Amino acid sequence: MDIVPAKRSKRKTEAHESPKMSILFVASEAVPFAKEGGLGDVVGTLPKFLHAMGHDVRIVIPRYYRVDKEKYGLKMIAGPMGVWMGVIGMMWCAVYEARLPGSGVPVYFIEHENFFGRDSGLYSKDGKGFLDNDNRFVFLSRAALELCKTLFFKPDVIHVHDWHTAIVPVFLNTAYRYEPLLGDSATLLTIHNMQHQGDFYRGLMDVLDIGREHFNPRGLEFYGRTNLLKGGLYHATLLNAVSPTYSQEIRTPAHDWRLGGVLRERASDLYGILNGVDYEEWDPETDRLIAANYSESDLSDKAICKQDLQKEFKLHERPEVPVIGMVSRLVRQKGIDILAGAIHRMMSWDVQFVLLGNGEPWAHHFFSDLCSKYPGRFGCYIGYSNPLAHKIEAGSDFFLMPSRFEPCGLNQMFSLRYGAVPIVRAVGGLNDTVENYDDQTGDGTGFKFNDPTPEAIIGTTGWAVHLYYNRREAIEGIVRRGMRKRFTWEGSAKKYEELYLRAVKKRIGDARFNERFK
Ligand code: ADP
Ligand code: GLC
Repeated sequence: MDIVPAKRSKRKTEAHESPKMSILFVASEAVPFAKEGGLGDVVGTLPKFLHAMGHDVRIVIPRYYRVDKEKYGLKMIAGPMGVWMGVIGMMWCAVYEARLPGSGVPVYFIEHENFFGRDSGLYSKDGKGFLDNDNRFVFLSRAALELCKTLFFKPDVIHVHDWHTAIVPVFLNTAYRYEPLLGDSATLLTIHNMQHQGDFYRGLMDVLDIGREHFNPRGLEFYGRTNLLKGGLYHATLLNAVSPTYSQEIRTPAHDWRLGGVLRERASDLYGILNGVDYEEWDPETDRLIAANYSESDLSDKAICKQDLQKEFKLHERPEVPVIGMVSRLVRQKGIDILAGAIHRMMSWDVQFVLLGNGEPWAHHFFSDLCSKYPGRFGCYIGYSNPLAHKIEAGSDFFLMPSRFEPCGLNQMFSLRYGAVPIVRAVGGLNDTVENYDDQTGDGTGFKFNDPTPEAIIGTTGWAVHLYYNRREAIEGIVRRGMRKRFTWEGSAKKYEELYLRAVKKRIGDARFNERFK
């Protein structure tokens, strides 16, 4: 059968004339189908913007149990499709297709009951990671490549995300190097979080079946184990992190999780592109999940949202008291243990605090207990709720993110738009998106602190609360400046497009690049 040229989207932005590429996203999550964190937001949003620019972009994710076939109109398009798993042998999957809602982007779902048919979290159950996460995501990665062959789809670029799919670039340089459809594909590995690396036992090499010679320090070997992220960092054509600051931080011991050496080696191929915000979802002027809509030119109805939030969390309905909000995975990364050391001092002020999140069990108990300790002043919901996340952004005066590290962070960008002044630690994407308030000039969009300590949280939040009570006009200026800021996906998608082109050129060379896109 002939190789069918990839279909191109007809929708183009007018002034946009750069070459149109075929781009395959391979990832472990994508909104609205399955999400545990910001990774899912990025994978479910960026492709829509690339599609609108005229690229043929498609997504591969697992068909988790929670992906409702009827609701999203999934149709089976292939199967049984064989996926070689080395010593385990051939394993089989079915493939379903749907469209990313609100766009024409095809999404392919890899269905394999044993791996993905679990009624649980995507990676764990009751806080315990699945013991077969190695096989689950190696299977997904290899299935995505097999699917390209099945569909005769020839991607110019395969864009992979974090450790789950970091093995794809390794496969393309080994087992698939001479596949006519795939050997030329460039790869971009986006680092959303270096902490999680897919660090597994040595024997995983026999499942990968790419040759033992790749088990070496400049390949997959990492302290005697098989590290999938490390393999991807060495093999991907290009790399990027989800903010400029994080792309620098991960080259240093404080943030490199022991992989700084690889990143320093690949420094000239490592970029930083800030995530965008989906303003169709997150805009107080149009948001349907909040009690009233408001804008920077008329903030009066934000008070209705504040009252609604106070009601929702059973707080005293006092308009004059500052509400500090937080929406977060309750894990060490987010600095919640540091917050735990600061919260009693903060609650000694006349403030209210609202927290939404889930994660480590100790934190569930600790923060739930604060509701009875500070009735009417501390509100907490342990769990996941998108409507509540919107209400907190709209109803809060301040939004706290004391992260130990934050590759990008989305909530501080939502907060700016909603006029909930961010108070953040100056790391990663938080540093890139929030401008510290300058008392001399009156400039700034939020408050930043450097040290990961309770004292720093208390000091900076205390300063913000002081301004709220004593110099409200300063806070109002910060709110308005923040609301005017935009972190659009259009801007970030343009940067990704440049990176894809650079990657393709690097993979196939200038001459073939010119031939391909003439
Ligand atoms: P991370 O991916 O590290 O968790 P991000 O800030 O990039 O951090 O993204 C977190 C996303 O998940 C945001 O869209 C945020 O609103 C959402 N989120 C996190 N926890 C919850 C929760 N408990 N309920 C609702 N949304 C949540
Ligand atoms: C990760 C990071 C977060 C980032 C998100 C999306 O989950 O922890 O900071 O915003 O990925 O890139």
